[in-house]
Amino acid sequence: MSRAWDGRTYDRVGTPQAEWGRAVLERLDLAGDETVCDAGCGSGRVTEMLLERLPRGRVIAVDGSASMLEAARERLTGDDRVEFLEADLLALDLGGRTVDAVLSTATFHWIKDHAGLFARLHAALRPGGQLVAQCGGRGNLGRVLARAAAVAAEPAYAPHLTGFVDPHRFADAPGTEALLRGAGFAAARAWLQAAPVHPPEPPVFLGSVILTAWLEHLPEDRRGPFVDQVLAGLPEPFEADYVRLNLDAVA
Ligand SMILES: C[S@@+](CC[C@H](N)C(=O)[O-])C[C@H]1O[C@@H](n2cnc3c(N)ncnc32)[C@H](O)[C@@H]1O
Repeated sequence: MSRAWDGRTYDRVGTPQAEWGRAVLERLDLAGDETVCDAGCGSGRVTEMLLERLPRGRVIAVDGSASMLEAARERLTGDDRVEFLEADLLALDLGGRTVDAVLSTATFHWIKDHAGLFARLHAALRPGGQLVAQCGGRGNLGRVLARAAAVAAEPAYAPHLTGFVDPHRFADAPGTEALLRGAGFAAARAWLQAAPVHPPEPPVFLGSVILTAWLEHLPEDRRGPFVDQVLAGLPEPFEADYVRLNLDAVA
């Protein structure tokens, strides 16, 4: 699990993710009194929108990053409908409780073991409960990450990145549907969607959203130059060539 998240910065620049989250949220069928797990809640921007749909409900907001959860707590302070849980989703344990739905945005591509992940989420859902999610999909950020790999191979960075393994898994739709069914979901649908983005602060966006896994392996004084070099080798204006994978499933 990447530890390099800075919750406050992500909260400020994660607008594309929040906007995608708003659209994903619309796919959840809610009466307003359900208990929903936000799996990978980050700094809580999508969680906050989810709470608007749950006037009589509850949210269990789970994330593996203490910095993200701190930002989420700040954002949602005083809202007693939310319970925060710092946990790895691959070891998700709700203490025997089940939820009516799982919402997850911009998170699953940070987890390689999708079979294990889907099994955990299935176990957390009541029978008939919904999983509605979106994450990076096959081809996501292909141009940006190819450039990052090229810069990572340069002598200034390569010694620090020996043994570095790209933590992302950008899955395709048919394979994801098969894994969801294999994890026990009764119905599963997945589809890809191109979603290019032009963030207003490219270096900050690259450094705090896209390249976090690389940067946590680099010494402090190499991080800025790494981001600048990645950016310098990409066409202007900077475009983050996102491809999203959508998942709808019923437990
Ligand atoms: C890009 S953020 C998305 C946050 C929020 N859902 C949004 O759409 O803005 C991805 C989040 O997934 C969390 N994450 C990644 N892998 C995780 C894991 N194995 N267990 C729990 N959280 C994880 C990260 O800590 C991070 O907060």
